[in-house]
Parts: sequence; structure tokens; C-alpha cells
Amino acid sequence: QGGTADPGAGRERRLTSEELRSHRWWGTEGLRSFSHRARTRQLGYLPEEHIGKPVIAIVNTWSDINPCHQHLRERAEAVKRGVWQAGGFPLEFPVATLSETFQKPTPMLYRNLLSMETEELLRSYPVDGAVLLGGCDKTTPALLMGAASADVPAVFVPAGPMLRGHWRGETLGSGTDMWKYWDERRAGRIGDAELAELECGLARSPGTCMTMGTASTMASVAEVLGVTMPGAAAIPAVDSSHSRMAAAAGRRIVELVWTDARLSRFLTAEAYRDAVATVLALGGSTNAVIHLIAMAGRSRVPLELADFDRIAREVPVLADIRPGGRFLMEDFYYAGGLPALLARLDEDHLHLDRPTVAHATLREQLAGAATHDTEVIRTPDQPLAEQGGLAVLRGNLAPDGAVIKHISAEPRLLKHTGPAVVFDDYRTMQATINEPALEITPDSVLVLRGAGPLGGPGMPEYGMLPIPDYLLKQGVTDMVRLSDARMSGTSYGACVLHIAPESHVGGPLALVNDGDLITLDVAARTLRLEVDDAELARRRAAWRPPEPRYGRGFGALYQEHITQADTGCDFAFLSREGEVPEPHAG
Ligand code: FES
Ligand code: MG
Repeated sequence: QGGTADPGAGRERRLTSEELRSHRWWGTEGLRSFSHRARTRQLGYLPEEHIGKPVIAIVNTWSDINPCHQHLRERAEAVKRGVWQAGGFPLEFPVATLSETFQKPTPMLYRNLLSMETEELLRSYPVDGAVLLGGCDKTTPALLMGAASADVPAVFVPAGPMLRGHWRGETLGSGTDMWKYWDERRAGRIGDAELAELECGLARSPGTCMTMGTASTMASVAEVLGVTMPGAAAIPAVDSSHSRMAAAAGRRIVELVWTDARLSRFLTAEAYRDAVATVLALGGSTNAVIHLIAMAGRSRVPLELADFDRIAREVPVLADIRPGGRFLMEDFYYAGGLPALLARLDEDHLHLDRPTVAHATLREQLAGAATHDTEVIRTPDQPLAEQGGLAVLRGNLAPDGAVIKHISAEPRLLKHTGPAVVFDDYRTMQATINEPALEITPDSVLVLRGAGPLGGPGMPEYGMLPIPDYLLKQGVTDMVRLSDARMSGTSYGACVLHIAPESHVGGPLALVNDGDLITLDVAARTLRLEVDDAELARRRAAWRPPEPRYGRGFGALYQEHITQADTGCDFAFLSREGEVPEPHAG
């Protein structure tokens, strides 16, 4: 790591220290500046340590409750080291953590809140540039959305994946193998002792989930967008390279401030197209669809579901990483990481002449990238799949679209008609899924509603509906499942997700009855409820919207402003055009 080419070199003049935003706090005449200087002495700094230097906010999502970010306190120190070395003034800003594991009902409820917190602290404090520390699923889009809206110079430091999991000589993937062994448990093949051992082996180091789940997908998104140090996304959290990368980011951000290289320079329409292509080549998480649309919205770049489907038809899947493939992020790192994969996509699928935070062009950044293991990172003529593993479906059941990651589904289900078994909410489904009276067969189509952005609330990762125990015992491992929910990036199966509009706002999903035939046809990109329009109109007339869930608090703000999945689930007031005045600092 540690590219040193200046993306602004030769075409951008450098700021003077009087032009730094922070100068308004410390450098001007008057009572306020005097007060700010006195309070900086109180912090323990002499004038020569900070006056005239770029102030770098280290925005840190570390928390005791977030195992994926355990090491980010230490990494913040490495970033500070780099900032000092380059002549900047680092200040750490702790922000909310969104722990995928522990936060309920789902951290997705709080993605926009963390983005607001990030944007507002970058606006309201004397900050010239930011290094963003995060990685557990929602933290990456949240930090980048906030920083993009503030449009400051920024570098993202991904937390990095944890080491491979281990159990009795077997390599385990967090998430993916958790689902798998829980199914084994339900089928009666795993006892208490084995379960306790698995608990110790599934996640055995700091870092984010080490499959190509949402965390690794979004870290890779940040890297291909050009806002991380080169190669950052795949570095294992506990590898010493990770500390060196963090320090390099600290050095780099100071230079980005002097050349006024704000995020908007990098987060262009071309960069977002490349991010979509990369997600597809990685066989990445379906959650990236929602996050990328929301992030592009903050960057004022048009990006819609149709772009994903179109690009998915062009891009081969090159990364053989679980849950779609065989390997884990640690293997991906040793195989050459994202630079190797991007070099293979090349200009057939990427825009290589755009700048990154570390290099004048992505082309220059990828020079010398090599693949060291062609099992893990395939060549385009021997891909894992010819086409990206994602399809956007439409039809009378999903007028505004739905998403399926068909690469992780059993092929026989990709064209399927079956009778619906409908669950109105997740808890009912949990309580009744194993009841023989439901007469669920391998051909049934399991339907979960009430799990969308408003219905969930927060669109929880309920989309991989459980297969009934009695079918599991018969060896059934996949079924067609539909919902307005999301699905964990580490999940798999023939799960149709993000159905929009959601049932809670009266989307057609609300009108499905038990026994209705539903047809999924991935090749045709359709999802149909085989019920005639007159009958659907009758059902619609009888439908009543649910009562609002929240009477006050953040939930009330959320339910008033959240948008549907096809537009990224941002708050409408955050994604719309509009001026935000700079605060007066004097
Ligand atoms: Fe944090 Fe998976 S739980 S990345
Ligand atoms: Mg996840």
C-alpha cells in the first residue's frame, strides 16, 4: 500500500493554510478564535502542533459490542501516526456502531442515522478531511453516505475480514456455516458438545465476516470506487499489513486535503458503474444493491435496479468465494485481492481512467496487480459463472422490482411454479413453519410479508426463510422463497428479495393468499402471481393498511421518511437536492 501519486498533480493548485476550513475556528481574529485556541491548549496541544495544519477527523465506529471492529481503536492510532507524519492534526471522533450481530431489529434501521451523524459532525466541527473506520455491513455505506453528503476529502479504512474459521480440520465461513450447521442441528445431526465447539471456531479473530457477505462486498465497493488505499478491502483485520494500510491512509488524507480532493471527485457515475460490475464479479451480497443506490443518490449519480440487471448480463463471476463459491476472504487476499480481480475485469468492464485517492488513475493503481491463485480468482474465460449472479425481476407481484442472487440457488428452481404458503410476519412464520397442517412440499413457494423497510421495520435479513424440519430431514436443501425482506450476504438459496413496493404499503405481496400459484422465471426476469386482475382488485379493495408502529422517537422519523428498496431506503430529506449552509465559526 501507500501509493503516493497525487490525483490532483499538475492540474490542481494547493490550498494555503488560510484556506483550510479549520482556519475559521483557530486562525481568525476575535473572541471565538481565542476561545478555540484556549480550549486546544486545554486538550494539551501547543500552537505549533496544530495551527495551519489540516485537521483530520478519524471517524471511528469502534465499540465493545462490535466484534468486527474490536481492533479499530488500535487502527485509529495507526491512522493518527500517518496523519502526524504527513503534517496533519488528527482528532478521533467516536460515532455510533452498527453491529450486524447484536443490534435489533436490524442495523439497517440505523444506517441513515449513522450517515446523518457522520455528515453533521463533519459539518459542525473544524474538520478539513476524514478517515472513516468501519466495515461491519451497514457501517460502510453509512460512513460513505455521510461523508459524500458533506463532500469533504476522505479515505475509507475497511475493518478487514476475520481469519478463516476452523472446526475439526474443516474450514468454516462465518454466517454461511452458521446457517448450515444450525440446519444440521435441527436435523438432529449435531449435539451440544459439537455446537459448543462450533461457537469457538466460527469467528475466531477480530474483523468482519470473511465470506463474500455484505461487509466484504461493501469494502470492495469502497475500494473500487477509489476511496480506500489500494488493496485495502481484502487485508485480514489482524494482518500487520492492516496497520500499515491504516497509517498510509493517515498520510494520504493530509495530501488530499491540500489538493482539495473531495469525495465528489472520485464518486462519479463511472465509479458507481464499476462498483456494480465489481459486486457482480465477486458474486457479492444482494444488500449492495440497496446500499449502492443510496450512496449514488448522495453523490447525485443516477443508478437504478435496471443498471444492475444490465451489467449482470455482461460481467462474469470471477471470485470463487463463499457463499457462492468455495474459498474465504483470507484466500482472496493471498490470491492477490481486489486489485487482481479488477485487473482481470480490465477495461472490458471498468473505467480505468478515473482517479482514486491514491493514484491519478485506476489504471495506474492496478499496474502490477497479479493473481497468485487462479482457483480463487478465475480468468474471464474460465469464470465461476458466465453472468453476474444477480437478476432483477418484475411482474404483477413486484411492479417496482425484486432481486434474486441466482448463482446461489438450485438451478431446478430458477423456473418454477408452485402454490404459495403465506406468512404475515416473521414471528408467525417461526412459530408455525414446522406444522404438518401447512402441508408444505418441496414445490411450495414460501411467502413472507411484513418484512420490508416499513413492515420489518428496517427490512431485516429474514429473506432466507427456513425450510421446514421435516423437509430438511428428507434432504430438501432449497425452495423458492419470496419476501420484501433483505437477506444476509452470507445466505444462499432461491430467495426472491426486496420485493417492491413492500406489503406494508399495499404492494401486491399483501394480496397473496395460501394456495395461489406463483411463477418464478429467472431467465425471463419475471415474478408472477397467477391470479386474475379482477380478483386482485377485489382483494385490494378489502385490504387495510397497518397502523403506524412508532408513536414517537427515531422510529417515527424513520417511518415518515424512509423510501422503498428500489430507491435505496434512504430518507427522502437526505437524498434530495438542497443547500446546507456552512456554520459560522467566529
Ligand atoms: Fe459484522 Fe458480519 S457481523 S461483518
Ligand atoms: Mg451480514
